[in-house]
Amino acid sequence: MELTNLILNNIPAGEVKTSFNKDSNDKKVYIETYGCQMNYSDTEIVLSVLSDFGYNETGDINDSDVILLNTCSIREHAEHKIYKRLDDLKKYKVRNPNLIIGILGCMAERLRDDLLEKRKIVDVIVGPDEYRKVPHLIDNAIETGEKGIAVKLSRVETYDDIAPLRREGVTAWISIMRGCDKFCTFCVVPFTRGRERSRNSANIVNEAKRLFDEGVKDIWLLGQNVNSYLYEDKDFSGLLKDVAVAVPKMRIRYTTSHPYDLSLKLLETMAEHKNICNYIHLPLQSGSDRVLKSMNRLYTVEQYMNVMKKSREMMPDIGLSTDIISCFPGETEEDHKMTLDVIREVRYDGAYTFVYSPRENTKAFFLKDEIDQDTKTRRLDEIITLQRKISVDINKELVGKTKSVLIESLSRKSDEFYMARTDCNKSVIIPIETGHVNESGVLKMKRTYKIGDMVNVRINKANSATLFGEAA
Ligand code: SAH
Ligand code: SF4
Ligand code: F3S
Repeated sequence: MELTNLILNNIPAGEVKTSFNKDSNDKKVYIETYGCQMNYSDTEIVLSVLSDFGYNETGDINDSDVILLNTCSIREHAEHKIYKRLDDLKKYKVRNPNLIIGILGCMAERLRDDLLEKRKIVDVIVGPDEYRKVPHLIDNAIETGEKGIAVKLSRVETYDDIAPLRREGVTAWISIMRGCDKFCTFCVVPFTRGRERSRNSANIVNEAKRLFDEGVKDIWLLGQNVNSYLYEDKDFSGLLKDVAVAVPKMRIRYTTSHPYDLSLKLLETMAEHKNICNYIHLPLQSGSDRVLKSMNRLYTVEQYMNVMKKSREMMPDIGLSTDIISCFPGETEEDHKMTLDVIREVRYDGAYTFVYSPRENTKAFFLKDEIDQDTKTRRLDEIITLQRKISVDINKELVGKTKSVLIESLSRKSDEFYMARTDCNKSVIIPIETGHVNESGVLKMKRTYKIGDMVNVRINKANSATLFGEAA
């Protein structure tokens, strides 16, 4: 076990070879992805690397030779979910002892020893910067039965030369940078994904053009902290502008940005280019300066509010969302109320809210967590209830208005409806069939639009998360 690890970590990434070649390999890979969009985007890179060695993706777990879980470590709950999933997977291994099970992503990086020693069914463990080695490790595990592990973090790997293997659809991700140097005291990401590094800007622009040619209508530029993007002298607003100009008919979005680095220049670039969506997801985490300091977030509430104010001034119908961590160690009732105050003042369109989850080896792990469970439940509840009410109020104000939406996919709940999205990132459910009365006065159902179309839609109903409408 140890030996495999050592050997693989010493092979330069470019030299990894496998004895499978494209023509003789008939192995099928089933992959499940958990966590953030970066992980979903990484899955496309892994599939691309695997397809170069002849592996095919299958959507049927029962028909697979290899099962990969691309995992997340952000909170304890995310890791529990994977451990439970590994228990479920035992039955597949019993049925097919040759089945290879691999763990990719942030848990591979953080919990490699535990996975290797205690989870006997795991054959392959690969961290986020070692995906070029996935085919080799699988190949080796199939041939020798040895476990394989590659979890070195890199200062340079960006997979810049790998064209992600995308699934069908009009929305696509482009990773523009990897890693994070911010070291918020609660967060595992700097440990699981390593140091910040940015991709070649010309290659990002070319990828956007290629995606447009392939029929993609909406792209997300991804990074843990896109505002720290820097390639040669190109910063994030420079890159965003280049992409907006190169694909003027493409909708462009980005996530996630850190309030500390969000520049006026970026807001100006967004306001200047019609195809850059009016939407910012800007994690607040807490409305108390004392807590923000203890989190090492590097901004004050006042600075954060200035960014919000400026963005609304420059783009009046901008969509704004945030992340909030409730009950960080030492959070008092007063701190909690300050968070509620900021939520009330900003009036976010939506928020992702979490109770603080202690993560081993982070700085916050060593802070005393004295908030009892009932208080944690209540505070989170108060945040969710307040935000939900604000979201409903904002969405109800849209009823009767007409919005331009991009039809992205079938609705998850019913194949009689499409899921479309507004420029400011609100989902709108619209019927696939619309009625029209023909010359003889008979009501006919007619499909008037398809996935990928931009349609003007009149909003006729709304709840906190979704709008409902019909073609205007
Ligand atoms: N890079 C992004 C966030 C990535 S993680 C940023 O800084 O904006 C997504 C969200 O998970 C964070 O914004 C935070 O709200 C939450 N999160 C991260 N670590 C957490 C922890 N230990 N406990 C609870 N929530 C956490
Ligand atoms: Fe984690 Fe902070 Fe980096 Fe976001 S900016 S990934 S919360 S360390
Ligand atoms: Fe999770 Fe790793 Fe993303 S910890 S949130 S998958 S960067």
